Amino acid sequence: MRILAIETSCDETAVAVLENKTNVLVNLVASQIDVHKKFGGVVPEVAARHHFENMKYLLSETFDKVNPESLDYVAVTYGPGLVGALLVGVSAAKGISLSLDIPIVGVNHLHGHISSIYLAYPNLKPPFVVLLASGGHTEIVLVKEKSFMVLGKTLDDAAGEAFDKVARILGLGYPGGPEIDRIARNGDPNYHQFPRPKINDKDYDFSFSGLKTAVLYFLRKNPGARVEDVAASFQRSVVDVLVKKVFRAARDSGVRKIIVVGGVSANSMLRKEMSEKALELGYEVFFPPVKYATDNALMIARAAFDLVEKGKIADLSLNAVPYLGWEDVL
Ligand code: KG4
Ligand code: ZN
Repeated sequence: MRILAIETSCDETAVAVLENKTNVLVNLVASQIDVHKKFGGVVPEVAARHHFENMKYLLSETFDKVNPESLDYVAVTYGPGLVGALLVGVSAAKGISLSLDIPIVGVNHLHGHISSIYLAYPNLKPPFVVLLASGGHTEIVLVKEKSFMVLGKTLDDAAGEAFDKVARILGLGYPGGPEIDRIARNGDPNYHQFPRPKINDKDYDFSFSGLKTAVLYFLRKNPGARVEDVAASFQRSVVDVLVKKVFRAARDSGVRKIIVVGGVSANSMLRKEMSEKALELGYEVFFPPVKYATDNALMIARAAFDLVEKGKIADLSLNAVPYLGWEDVL
């Protein structure tokens, strides 16, 4: 079975074709980073226009590699995300569905991120606790054989958003996560103790906006501080909170497997700390390959395989749902 998938929820235009869950036939990602860099963040209108421009190139490259007649389904991210951006992908998928006469599958972007783990570990089975940390979300989810349960989420900024905003304060480029990750390697993570919001609270929720403000005030008071040291100390705070909370959630849920997905799961310090703690406490931790951690269409195709197996097929009434939660996955 072959599924073509489209992802346009934020600033990556992506198209992939996956065969039988594991055989990657096409995996294209057109990043708009250079377009949005000058604004220091994603501009929704501009993102939608660029998705529209990029889509024709990505699809024609895809159809050069894979015979369209050999496709069984077309899958598309229909939420959560930027409405204009999502609509470009959903419309393209409807056109493909109509012209090739194949069914359409609507995929939840969050479900896509979780599915990215199966691209590297096809035999991994729930139960596991998921830390999903991206530019738009920071959530801890308990995944069981037949159910999902959201245990906690951020009350304000997402972890990736905090990386992006702090990078901006530090005068680094967009997106901020990879920049902070890179320069923090030459910095001292113990240079300054930034707050670790909610780290000792009994719930599994997060809050990162105060941490961002703390970095801003610290820099105002200490304009001579080395950017590398501030970046490393900030990163240390975020990683400490994420690690502590997800291990607490796993312990309280009695689950020994933890998976970490979403753009922030590419972070090298987070990977190192999670792996060390797992070894120390006797847990198993899994990450997607770094190239599948950030937005891509392969993870959407992989999620679509599970939806097809469950008979969850959409039709041409499929619409973009910008604030989609877990309701269609639960
Ligand atoms: O999953 P993703 O590509 O898009 C969303 O669904 O939001 O995540 C993008 C986020 C951005 O905020 C970016 O700064 C962050 O992931 N990110 C990182 C790293 N690579 C990407 N954050 C920390 N360290 C990284 N290496
Ligand atoms: Zn994402």
